[in-house]
This record gives sequence, structure tokens and C-alpha cells, in this order.
Amino acid sequence: MRAAEAIDVVTCRVPGKINLDLNVGPLREDGFHELSTVYHAVSIYDRVSVQPADDWSVVVTGPYADRVPTDDTNLALVAAKTLARRRPRGSRLVPVTIEIDKQIPVAGGMAGGSADAAAALLACRELWGMDNVENDLLEHIGASLGSDIPFLMHGGTAIGTGRGEQITPVLARGELHWVLWAGEGLALSTPTVYAECDRLREEAGIEVPDPEPNGELMTALRRMDAEEVAKHLRNDLQDAAISLQPVLAEVLEAGSELGALGGLVSGSGPTVAFLVGSQAEAIDLSVGLAANGPVGDILRATGPVPGTQIVQNRVPPPPPVPPRPGPVGPVPG
Ligand code: C5P
Repeated sequence: MRAAEAIDVVTCRVPGKINLDLNVGPLREDGFHELSTVYHAVSIYDRVSVQPADDWSVVVTGPYADRVPTDDTNLALVAAKTLARRRPRGSRLVPVTIEIDKQIPVAGGMAGGSADAAAALLACRELWGMDNVENDLLEHIGASLGSDIPFLMHGGTAIGTGRGEQITPVLARGELHWVLWAGEGLALSTPTVYAECDRLREEAGIEVPDPEPNGELMTALRRMDAEEVAKHLRNDLQDAAISLQPVLAEVLEAGSELGALGGLVSGSGPTVAFLVGSQAEAIDLSVGLAANGPVGDILRATGPVPGTQIVQNRVPPPPPVPPRPGPVGPVPG
């Protein structure tokens, strides 16, 4: 890490995630549900830059910019301010401007807000030269702000337990190809989807077991066998998301008819992820969905990809060399 004074802007790249398996257990006393999930980072990235400023602010660009709050509720800003409170006593507090290039669909179940918070934490630690904050502590701070944040720092494919914040990496070589459908202007609030899941379970009289990872999915992932992975895609929140946004059932049906190996709602939705066998199949499916599926943004991605990474830390140019004192007055000829 460089000295804080030497850097004037730090940029991080952070991926979105989908959940290949999301087992929702009982509601806990703290208002969260016990989970067993398999997170999978995919190649749709936000870029988050931080640079010193006179006051705290957030600027958002990109296709989803108008749907991201730039006030005090922005999670990246909350994350930066939370980290700032850990600065050594007596050190000067430097507010930052946070610039977010927003490419991950907003409120879509891909943890876009958490992704920006993860990136802001890593970028601010670098900018402020906070060597005292180890990765474990940074993850701990992240987990206090959002259950998905520790995973977004790790990336790859990983099991999430607890409320999703306890991460165990899954060894998975190779690449999976995904087509994502993100409903234009469609959003679901995570607490509302969990509450709907509880309501549907209560209505059906379902006894909720403790959540457990699916061993067959783990085997399929170790082999990176897309057809086998597709058989074990599962999301306990899917029925709740469909109950709140019935169009998602049509999207899933359209993907299946167009030849996807498998598909599911990502996290609390409403983004839908389809698994296909190759890049060529991904192109075919995205063209088919755009022509025949419900209206939405269609994105292609691969996974797994690494978690939050610093991609640039710019050092200011050296100060100009002062001109050498020259002769005063007319130079004798
Ligand atoms: O941690 P995160 O910000 O993603 O949580 C948002 C909301 O989603 C929580 O306040 C809670 O209502 C719900 N949630 C849950 N169980 C989890 C994770 C999230 O009920 N394991």
C-alpha cells in the first residue's frame, strides 16, 4: 500500500453476483433468515472511484444511473463513512467524492448496491492508507452493512452461510455462460421478497428445515459440468419473487423454450439468470429472448470471476520544476 498523500484517485472494479442455490431457513431473532447459498460472481462490473474532496458526495453514471440514490442512503457512501470512523485518532479526515459507473442492474437481486459498498471500502482503505484495517476487518465492516458484501470482496464461487456473510470458497475451475434478463424499471425490495416467502410458507403450512448446501451441485461445480449444474439450480425465494412480479414466470418459460439448460431468479430478483452451454448459445438465447421474451435488458456474462479489485491508483504528477534563476536585466551581447 502507498502512502495516503501519494494517491489522488483510486478505482475499483466489482462484479455482480447470482445465486446458484439459495436455501432459506427459519427467520432468526435478528430479523434475518438463516441461509445456505452458493454465490457466483459474474462478469458484469461496476467501477467505483474515490478521490479527496471538500465534502462527501456521490456521482453516478451508466445505464442505471437514474435509479441509484446519491444522498446519504447510498450504500457506498455509508460504507466510506463507516470506514472513515476507523481512522487513527488525530489523523485528518478527508471526505471523498465517490463516482460509480453503474452497469449492474439496480434492485435486481445481483447485489449491485452491496457491490458498490464493497468497492468503496477497498478503494477508501487504499486512498487513506489504512494499513491497520486487515482484509478480515474490512469484510467484517462490510458484513455489518450488507450480507452479500463479504462475498463481493472474495468473488469466484463460494458457499455463504449464517445470513450469507460467512464465506467458504468453492474450488471450481472453468467457465459457465449466462444470459441475464433484467426487467426494465422492474425492482423488488429484498425484505419484501423474504417476507413474501415467509407468508407463502405459512399459508402452505411448510415446516422450514435448517438450510444445507446441495452436495450434487458441489460435484457438478467441481467438474464445471454445465448440464449438471443446470439440474441443481434452485432458489427458495423464486416463488415469492414470482408472486410479487408474475412476469418472471413468463421470462423463465421463454428461456426454457428457447433452449436454456436451466434458469432461475437471481437472489431476491427480479433479474433472471439462464445457464447455457457456450458463448454461441448465449448469443442465440439473448437474440431469441430479445425478440420473443417479455421486454427487458438482456445481458451476457461468464462466471466465476474475481471479486473487488483495485484497477487504478493514480499518483499526481510531480510538481513543476521551478525555473532556474536567470540573469536579471539585459543579457550582455
Ligand atoms: O443484508 P442485506 O442488506 O442484504 O439484507 C436486506 C434485508 O433482506 C434484511 O433486512 C432482511 O429483511 C432480508 N434478509 C433476510 N435474511 C438474510 C438476508 C437478508 O431476511 N439472510
